[in-house]
Amino acid sequence: MAQRKGQVVTVEKLGNIALVAVDNPPVNALSHAVRAALTEAIEALDADREVEVVALYAEGRTFIAGADIREFGKPPVPPFTIDVCRTLENAATPIVAVIHGTTLGGGLEIALACHARVALDGTIVGFPEVTLGLIPGGGGTQRAPRVTGITSALDLITTGKRIGAHDALTLGLIDEIASGTPRDVAISSATAVLSGNLATRRIGQLTVTPDPDAIAAATDTLRKTSPHHFAPQKCVEAVAASTLPIEDGIAAERAIFLECQASPQRAALVHAFFAERAVDKIPEKGTPPRVLEALAVIGGGTMGSGITTAALLAGFPVTLAERDGESLEKGRAAIAKNLDGAVKRGKLSEARRTDILTTSLKTTTDLADLAGADLVIEAVFEDMAVKTEIFGALDRVMKPGAVLATNTSYLDIDTIAAATERPGDVIGLHFFSPAHIMRLLEVVVAQKTTADVVATGFALAKRLGKIAVRAGVCDGFIGNRIMSHYRKVGDYLVMDGASPEAIDDALEGFGLAMGPFKVGDLAGLDIAWASRKRLAATRPADERYIPIADRICEAGWFGRKTGKGYYVYDGPTPRPNPDVAAIIAQERQKAGIVPRTFSAEEIVDRYLTAMISEGARVLDEGIALRPVDIDAVFLFGYGFPRHRGGPMFYADTIGAAALVERIKTYAAQDAYFWTVPPLLERLAAEGGTFAALNAD
Ligand code: COA
Repeated sequence: MAQRKGQVVTVEKLGNIALVAVDNPPVNALSHAVRAALTEAIEALDADREVEVVALYAEGRTFIAGADIREFGKPPVPPFTIDVCRTLENAATPIVAVIHGTTLGGGLEIALACHARVALDGTIVGFPEVTLGLIPGGGGTQRAPRVTGITSALDLITTGKRIGAHDALTLGLIDEIASGTPRDVAISSATAVLSGNLATRRIGQLTVTPDPDAIAAATDTLRKTSPHHFAPQKCVEAVAASTLPIEDGIAAERAIFLECQASPQRAALVHAFFAERAVDKIPEKGTPPRVLEALAVIGGGTMGSGITTAALLAGFPVTLAERDGESLEKGRAAIAKNLDGAVKRGKLSEARRTDILTTSLKTTTDLADLAGADLVIEAVFEDMAVKTEIFGALDRVMKPGAVLATNTSYLDIDTIAAATERPGDVIGLHFFSPAHIMRLLEVVVAQKTTADVVATGFALAKRLGKIAVRAGVCDGFIGNRIMSHYRKVGDYLVMDGASPEAIDDALEGFGLAMGPFKVGDLAGLDIAWASRKRLAATRPADERYIPIADRICEAGWFGRKTGKGYYVYDGPTPRPNPDVAAIIAQERQKAGIVPRTFSAEEIVDRYLTAMISEGARVLDEGIALRPVDIDAVFLFGYGFPRHRGGPMFYADTIGAAALVERIKTYAAQDAYFWTVPPLLERLAAEGGTFAALNAD
């Protein structure tokens, strides 16, 4: 039979062997077209008397990488994955799956429904559905335990972890590992089935030994480790049903799957998945980046050494510049410590660590030694005079065409660029601490930054394994600008009646990893104190000022590092600082405020409304390209809970009109802080959504 070119599924017959190839680039997602064509092909081959064995494989970089996530949330169209799996498993003709690349979710379910599985060396398998708020819905929760046992299936399905072919073989998820092209291995595997050298069976006919203790233990653990997440417990429920006869188990799985499909967490998690990929769709996308071979970093402090570590881990040679030998030594020690951490986490070999420190990392106190770098990142402290002086010097020494980047978190990059004769080469690359771990990189585009320099910023992020988000110049860019705004809400709430711990608890209940007062204690309260003192002269007269944090700092309590801050750190768990409660009471009294109570819901509402409001202003001013860019900044740089999708996604779940109403209510107490952003007003008037702005 001739191949049907351009089809998502093609059939090729070689005597009594039939090869079925899936070809749906880029990742062979199990779209409706693939499900339908696969069903049709298998049914036809099963009825074909000439065919004695079928081998199913995929073209391109991977076997089926899962369900087509773009179809989630849309009305499902049969045949469903579960139907395709039933067709495969029930076929009278033996079917062997030959898998490669990332065989995930629906791809692994298809493979488990075949009668034998051969994986190419290097294959990765897993059930990532839980990370998208789902359970495997194509029989995975029923067939996986039948080969791996309940404990291993729970581990795979509730975590979404990906494992290599060798581990998959040990667990029984695959039968053999082979090397060669998928098509060649498909032919050899089909031949092995015919000769009896590769055994076939129907996994659905196996039985699972009940293990109520494992089910109870998983439920218990997940209650502690994933208290906010809906899907992990649902995975346990589905796996527990695998002790039933296969069709009953599949019916239970289907009901649970549909429950997950309908959950708001599923929509948020899918949004987060696409957010990660949407942010690189920028106006400069088609512009080729400049060559990036050697990097330079100026400043060996926390940020500079973190950035240098990230670049070294990505394989770049880096020259680190500092003003004196002592600072250089500190920087080098910090980098060595970061690399040690990478060795401990299994990300780096001991030999590679030594190699990086002896050959890839160079240090200097002379900026002239950076001349040959393709891109230099300045990461000295936040002082405009120091930065402009450095950029003036870089202008004199760097080779033509080098990208001159600043890691400033707040300062005006146009002013920094103006200190050079080549403002087109200047860009902001705002890393987040610890820079070798945090995934976010704000690529800040100044007025004169050229398109290829922007493209180079994005190319660098990719090489560093980071998620780049395009931002415009303003005080704090996307993330810090929005954060400076909503952070004030915490102080206002404390002054008006909430305790810091009640605010932390409410926001942790919403899903933030750590409440804002705990974060303050961790970061050191003295940092924000210094910045408040610096900005005191320019603070708007109408802005409400809450002096509580100043009083805490005046007492010498800077948070964890001094043993006391909003909390006292004298035992295994921090406890609220009673002296802070006294300061709060005094300040309220001085201001004539009678404290009122705030429910957790009201705390979260005010906090999130402030975040969304400033997000809307950032969008309106063109600082962020789309709402999804703001979501990505908060998801990947500020610990916003993934299952909430990001602040702008969350905004749509409330609705623009309701948000406007909230702001108007809050404005009755503080009309300076709470103003309705024009964009939100427009969306409320038109019944518009932030999601629609992503699509524009
Ligand atoms: N459905 C629809 N589209 C998908 C997809 C899926 N399951 N998986 C990936 N894509 C798309 C991506 O959005 C991207 O599209 P774009 O180029 O338009 O942005 C493209 O395929 C390539 O994906 P990308 O992640 O950039 O490629 P990669 O090689 O780095 O990684 C995977 C490939 C398969 C490992 C990764 O995409 C992945 O983890 N996908 C999700 C798998 C999954 O969760 N499956 C179970 C679904 S229930």
